[in-house]
Amino acid sequence: MSRQTTLEHLSRCAPVIAPSMLKCDFGNLHREVELLEAAGAELLHLDVMDGHFVPNLSYGPMVIRSLRRLTKIPFDAHLMISEPERYLDEYLDAGCDAVTFHVEASSNPVELLRRIREADAVAGLALNPGTSVETVEPFLGECDLVLVMSVEPGFGGQSFIPASIDKLERLRKMLPADVLLSVDGGIGSETIEETAAAGADVFVAGSAIFDQPDYGLAIKELTELANRATCSSGSRNQ
Ligand code: DX5
Ligand code: ZN
Repeated sequence: MSRQTTLEHLSRCAPVIAPSMLKCDFGNLHREVELLEAAGAELLHLDVMDGHFVPNLSYGPMVIRSLRRLTKIPFDAHLMISEPERYLDEYLDAGCDAVTFHVEASSNPVELLRRIREADAVAGLALNPGTSVETVEPFLGECDLVLVMSVEPGFGGQSFIPASIDKLERLRKMLPADVLLSVDGGIGSETIEETAAAGADVFVAGSAIFDQPDYGLAIKELTELANRATCSSGSRNQ
């Protein structure tokens, strides 16, 4: 999908619940993708970890390339890796529609964001819980998506860090309305409403989907909660 088509798709579908492919059954990825398609997932969040930037290892471009053959759902690769500039092209070639890398991992975020856009993909920038909004501020004009980590990256199933709400609110005010604001970590029925009210429009969810017997129902319930919170706060129109 082109960058423009992916962005239009995501803003049309917002609030978007993006299943995090870290909590899925790696022994049966084909089946998991089929279930997520049937569940109506509009974006797959692919957690790439290198055992260096984060203390965990997941999968890389070869697995993503194989997944690409199974579905047309757009892919957002969340690169939790050091030196993302060295590996970016492999993720683009593997068929990622969006690539999100960490500001802490990059020596030149502007150059990398531009490379992603030049490849006609959605350019995403992530920040860790300990990284301030001011750190990403100079790069926001080059972003299509900003990802606020609401847990320390590396593992699923952690508790949501409440200070993320303030970050979301501040970023939403700084960002043009067409830039997507995403939140990742500890998102579930207890936390999604406050993040939606704070202005998030893409919600990454691992445990809240994969620990449930019915992925479709889990996505539907999370979508409804996000919609309700957005409508009552009017956050998307501020
Ligand atoms: C953590 C990953 C997340 C994680 C989310 O480093 O970036 O995408 O899998 O999992 P939950 O929703 O269980 O916190
Ligand atoms: Zn993630």
